[in-house]
Amino acid sequence: MVVERIKTGIYGLDEKIEGGFEKGSVITVLGGPGAGKSIIGMQFLHHGAKNGENGLYYSFEESRDDIIKDMEVIGLDPKDLIKQNKLSVVSASPVDFEYLPIIDSIKKDNIKRLVIDSLSTIYMYFENNSKFRRFLLDLVNSLKEIGVTTIMTDEQSQGTGENEIMFFSGEYLSDAVIKLYYSGLGGEYDRSMQIIKMRRTNNERSVIPMKIGQGGVYLR
Ligand SMILES: Nc1ncnc2c1ncn2[C@@H]1O[C@H](COP(=O)(O)OP(=O)(O)OP(=O)(O)O)[C@@H](O)[C@H]1O
Ligand SMILES: [Mg+2]
Repeated sequence: MVVERIKTGIYGLDEKIEGGFEKGSVITVLGGPGAGKSIIGMQFLHHGAKNGENGLYYSFEESRDDIIKDMEVIGLDPKDLIKQNKLSVVSASPVDFEYLPIIDSIKKDNIKRLVIDSLSTIYMYFENNSKFRRFLLDLVNSLKEIGVTTIMTDEQSQGTGENEIMFFSGEYLSDAVIKLYYSGLGGEYDRSMQIIKMRRTNNERSVIPMKIGQGGVYLR
């Protein structure tokens, strides 16, 4: 069976994952503060919107204006895409979050690419871990049923891996897990990416040098 793939928009990533993300898959992007999680999401949506796949950016962290500004500063061009209804940016409250409105707008606006930024923000408002896990399972199943390709960002502090949030995050439920690191050593490629898992894909397994610059994230 051939796996249908879509181009990620992240410079240098497609050739390391057999041509792109599996269409309709759910990808978790993990990393500490400033690791590049949101930029990866923006780039992924921007690339899709430019090439006929509508995108929805659903943020619990930043205001709509800030997200648009972030995109412009990194060299993306969201405003025209928003005007043409190819890109939607929503800033939502994580309190009592319901995902059904997301599913509705995905159907209504023919959304093919979704970014949820971030899981850790929603997590804080759940009474306990099992409720969150149940919620996440329902969400992931609904997204897969519709066939929208989704990036969910999640916070993870660098190094220890002891983070409680990590254990209850979407890592086990999602099809792919990508981790971002910041070396702090200087040099052009002072960041790195590691693909921890990517179902149905013979992915690059070593740590990949990464940088952030005009246009977004670049891999070497
Ligand atoms: N034009 C640029 N050139 C180089 N690096 C940049 C540029 N713009 C932003 N960055 C880097 O990108 C980082 C922000 O990336 P991003 O917002 O994607 O991080 P994040 O992982 O979403 O962080 P958070 O957890 O705080 O939301 C900044 O801290 C900065 O280091
Ligand atoms: Mg962010």
